[in-house]
Amino acid sequence: MGHYGDLQTQIYQDGLRGVLPDYPVDFATLEKRAENALSPSMLNYVQGGCGDEHTQRSNARAFHHWGMVPRMLVDCASRDLSIDLFGMTLPSPIFMAPIGVNGEITQDQRGDIAAAEASAMTGVPFCASTLSNSPLEDVAKATGSTPAFFQLYTPKNADLAESLIRRAEAAGYKALVITLDTWVTGWRPRDLNTSNFPQLRGKVLENYFSDPVFRSTLARPPEDDMAAAVQAWATTFGKVLTWDDMAWFKSITRLPIVLKGICHPDDARRAVDLGVDAIYCSNHGGRQANGGIAAIDMLADVVKAAGDTPTLFDSGVRSGSDVIKALALGAKAVGIGRPYAYGLAIGGAKGAAHVLRSILAEADLLMAVNGYPSIDAVMAAGAQRAM
Ligand code: FNR
Repeated sequence: MGHYGDLQTQIYQDGLRGVLPDYPVDFATLEKRAENALSPSMLNYVQGGCGDEHTQRSNARAFHHWGMVPRMLVDCASRDLSIDLFGMTLPSPIFMAPIGVNGEITQDQRGDIAAAEASAMTGVPFCASTLSNSPLEDVAKATGSTPAFFQLYTPKNADLAESLIRRAEAAGYKALVITLDTWVTGWRPRDLNTSNFPQLRGKVLENYFSDPVFRSTLARPPEDDMAAAVQAWATTFGKVLTWDDMAWFKSITRLPIVLKGICHPDDARRAVDLGVDAIYCSNHGGRQANGGIAAIDMLADVVKAAGDTPTLFDSGVRSGSDVIKALALGAKAVGIGRPYAYGLAIGGAKGAAHVLRSILAEADLLMAVNGYPSIDAVMAAGAQRAM
């Protein structure tokens, strides 16, 4: 059986024939390439974050103060990176975090489909955002046989929320990820200085424009009156959720419910008490609130509070080593965000797939070298605060 790390051998062997990789394998080079590929407004939107972006930078930097201790004389000739989640066995412990402007990242404006295709090519589950240039049904189809999750931005209109959830169920998504930290947009200087907010320009709203409940609220369809449709979207976007709403979600769907944005152990405990199926520890990549603690530094406490309920994680993951550290700190599955978005920017589905494969190759080879043949071994080894 092959290993994710075999990508390395393939790259070196291609090199012997004078063939170099089309896309970089490291984040720094990837980001530079994406800076050249994206329009200034898209680059600001994807690369930028909240306030002076201190939290965003901390998310990535904080991985450096966590370290792993290698174990020797362990047979790691065969490694198993698979995990069990929501009753499924997934081949690897990573997933593609929801990114609401995927659609705009590729030049054909079909980046949501390209992201879904990258998922199909790699077996890495895609968490599709509510904000999308392609309807969630088309996105689900493009993921092929790889399971996908649907991320919900809960609208104020409960009928619309229910309709989106029903559509996600019918399309075959395997979990409902409810994002908690974005009923209002955080203060993003890069976007403010250029007065750019894609949704208000009618972008990434196809899940609304294709929804029968949303359409029934409009005097004229979006095709005939885009401005009014965008206004209707702005009016319904961003229900302020409280703990009391959880019973409604539970009553409305049998999909596993994941709460995205939980960073405090007390919130994790309360969510578990209310019967959620997974906690998703994330600070939205520092895009929503500045001044926060790096997400990876909050992970272990959240995992402990969540107990047997699995904790998903994202924010600041840039490499395979970062993935392994997050797993060692107790994450069940690790979300890749900006790196795959940059992959989409430089190479569409193939670029994003390359980014995911590179991350998995690095993770696999780290496990090989460090004497961790399985994810259980990674968790048993743990990670230590190195400084
Ligand atoms: C996001 N994120 C996000 N989250 C979500 O729940 N729904 C969404 O539509 C979006 N949209 C979005 C757009 C862009 C451009 C970015 C960069 C991020 C947050 C995302 O799911 C994840 O939490 C972060 O990307 C993690 O941070 P890093 O690792 O990408 O820095």
